[in-house]
Amino acid sequence: MNLLSEYSGPSLVFDENKFISNLSRIRKASQRTNTHVVMAAKSCTLDISRRIAMKYLSGFEVSNSREFAGLPDQNHHKESLLFVTNPILGCDHSYLFNKHYRTFVHVDSFHQFLELQKIERPLEFGIRLSVDEEGAINYQRRDVVTSRFGISFDQIGEIMQEAAASHHRLRGVHVHHQRKRVDVKAFHVTTKCILECIPDVEQFEYINLGGGLSGIGIEGFEGFLAQIRSEIPKKIKLIFEPGSLLFQGVVSAIGKIMNIKKIRNSYVLFMDISKECHLKWSDPVPLLPQSRTGKFTYSISICGPTCFEGDLIGQYKMKSDSKSFPLYVGQVIHFLNVESYSQAWNTEFNGIPRAQIMWQQQAE
Ligand SMILES: Cc1ncc(COP(=O)(O)O)c(C=O)c1O
Repeated sequence: MNLLSEYSGPSLVFDENKFISNLSRIRKASQRTNTHVVMAAKSCTLDISRRIAMKYLSGFEVSNSREFAGLPDQNHHKESLLFVTNPILGCDHSYLFNKHYRTFVHVDSFHQFLELQKIERPLEFGIRLSVDEEGAINYQRRDVVTSRFGISFDQIGEIMQEAAASHHRLRGVHVHHQRKRVDVKAFHVTTKCILECIPDVEQFEYINLGGGLSGIGIEGFEGFLAQIRSEIPKKIKLIFEPGSLLFQGVVSAIGKIMNIKKIRNSYVLFMDISKECHLKWSDPVPLLPQSRTGKFTYSISICGPTCFEGDLIGQYKMKSDSKSFPLYVGQVIHFLNVESYSQAWNTEFNGIPRAQIMWQQQAE
């Protein structure tokens, strides 16, 4: 299908081949480095993405029962892992035992640990640790707390003591770096802190270092896994739970120019596709007709159709040979670098229809 000529409204377009190619590279990388990768379910709510991910990865990360309900049934040929990380951990935990995943609940506070004790049926759990930009500053400087998630490193001994008497089994620790672009250094700092601060760390079955891997990228992923793996004792399973990374290069968007105006030296394009409704968390790159040698450089602001002043897709420069502005109302623009999370957020704020979702299987 030609996305531009057969335009039928603002759309987010998934390329299945690229998704499978990412997943198979990730699977190879994790097999070669003896690590495990699960999909952060919140990164894409489409069933098909989860069914495909299940074939290549070791399981999922979810936050709550509604997210869990959207997972495929466990693949009975292998043990699939499920990590549950819920900032509020509600009172209905019965779902945890459905679908036959091997499930680990991550506790985010002492209160959650106590809540867990009310569940009679034994389960396996981990402790979510608090980290920030530098990896684990909450441990090094106790006066600075920059993440609202997790338990600080200095409280872990207390929970571990209580856990020893619990009917649930403490199996591991978990962190998740919140920033979009986390560098390798932050992962090293976190790993070092975990190994230095947790008493008897070797007794743990796993260390789960979460997501935040898009800055590392698919290309660098295997090298990264190998490095971190070499820092952690072999008998401890090393888990990652990326979302964004799985979809790198997979999602694009299309929208149509509906209105053009000139404000000072900049052309403002109003599209039918909205940053706020359809492109949340994305940093879209429009494929504009560029001419390298063009004599004229146009400054362009591309905006969405909502009444929100901040509905700005981005500001760009375009080189052209044409003295008159080359873009026109009715022109369809293709944007790359779209996050899968945009699909999960896709809303109809301000009466703007949701973007259509197109899952494309292209012949090789
Ligand atoms: C607990 C947890 N793990 C993993 C992820 C996935 O993060 P990313 O898409 O940056 O890899 C998230 C995303 O918010 C998360 O909250």
